[in-house]
Amino acid sequence: MKISVVGTGYVGLVSGVCLAAKGHDVTCIDVDQAKVDMINRGHPPIYEEGLEDLLKNLVGKNLRADTNLQKAVLDTDLSLIAVGTPFKGDEIDLQYIQQVSRDIGAAIKNKDAYHVVVVKSTVVPGTTDRVVLPLLEESSGKKAGIDFGVGMNPEFLREGVAVNDFMEPDRIVLGGIDQPTLAVMDQLYTVFDGVDILHTNPRTAEMIKYTANSLLATMISFSNEIGNLSAKVGDIDVTEVMKGVHLDKRLSPIREDGERITPSFTTYIEAGCGFGGSCFPKDVKALIAHGKKFGQAMSLLDSVIEVNEDQPNRMIELLNKHFPDLNGVTVAVLGLAFKPGTDDIRESPAIPIISRLLEAGATVQAFDPIAEKEMKHLYSEEQVCYCQEIDHAIRGAQAVLLVTRWPEFAALPNMLDKDVLLVDGRRMLPKDSIARYEGIGL
Ligand code: UGA
Repeated sequence: MKISVVGTGYVGLVSGVCLAAKGHDVTCIDVDQAKVDMINRGHPPIYEEGLEDLLKNLVGKNLRADTNLQKAVLDTDLSLIAVGTPFKGDEIDLQYIQQVSRDIGAAIKNKDAYHVVVVKSTVVPGTTDRVVLPLLEESSGKKAGIDFGVGMNPEFLREGVAVNDFMEPDRIVLGGIDQPTLAVMDQLYTVFDGVDILHTNPRTAEMIKYTANSLLATMISFSNEIGNLSAKVGDIDVTEVMKGVHLDKRLSPIREDGERITPSFTTYIEAGCGFGGSCFPKDVKALIAHGKKFGQAMSLLDSVIEVNEDQPNRMIELLNKHFPDLNGVTVAVLGLAFKPGTDDIRESPAIPIISRLLEAGATVQAFDPIAEKEMKHLYSEEQVCYCQEIDHAIRGAQAVLLVTRWPEFAALPNMLDKDVLLVDGRRMLPKDSIARYEGIGL
């Protein structure tokens, strides 16, 4: 099938490259000529494991990038919209989605054949049929459902493992305004064998995406709230509490042969210093704002955000137990990325943690295997001492804060002097492996 993917960011490029790898003929469209040139030379503008190898193999064959959207729409059967929906105030900004809808509509005006337009960006429920569809009709002068189809197909990729998640999806959600649209969307995914495909309308597809992320975020804040209470009551370890909860057979089913299945979903009930990234905080906040627009209070999700935004403070409180005055205290911050496997620091708990430390007059020595460069845009080298090795970051530190679950931090028990305090923000290390240990929910 011939498809055009508009927007070569994280979602667009991964989708385009992977759909080409599955045998489709793909044209990636971006307004940024430099990005287009990079892609055509086989260099992805973003880092995702496995992406560069795939791109190098496919570019010049059944994959190319271009700036000419009009031509791409004329030459293909289906366009995926994968442009950004940045967060503005408390809502997502739809200006790029709107612009692309107008541009695709203008191309459809000159196209005789039936074309299907599918939104892949994360957009609040109602965007595809209330914003995208009318703009397509307006600029094409044609009718949706007759001259062209409109659909919504959310993506469920995790950063760092996006290529793998795309190639081996757990589900495919297709929302179409009518059967002909869904039939064309189906063709896009017939190359994925044996995957559950859910057919629905665009609004439900949009809601599924927000609900999925909101559920995971809720589970994290829930565990953090229980962890905070466990710590206050004393003599309770939230990791043991959650282990006991995991053993409910509805969470970890027992197979007929007696073996227990531990779904990876249960990792989202681990307490820690909070969730971050470009998706959970933004998506939950956008859904809350959307609820308000419809006069629907979203009090549970309000609390999910409230708990999360307060969670980095737990790290400082644990530190304050040992150092009531942080002025002049040297603190190592280990992990700057919002999660391991990425250099993305967006909404990372490390940001408020560093800010509190600096406000309190502490000297901050930071280490992250790959995210240091990103953090330098927020905190200069005058404010934070960035270290190239874990060793350097902990040298001279009176306390160490473990913020991101990078596997290399497992070596810390053998690296720390007895008198150094470790505050484990991910409950990653055995609590008896370090003499002065504090952990979230302990
Ligand atoms: C998330 C979802 O997991 C994907 O399914 C979804 O497609 C994606 O958002 C998206 O909307 O594009 P991602 O943001 O890459 O993916 O990250 P996750 O691996 O889910 O982690 C999110 C945050 O939760 C991280 O900050 C992580 O440290 C935190 N987390 C995770 C916890 O604080 N506790 C946990 O138990 C698990």
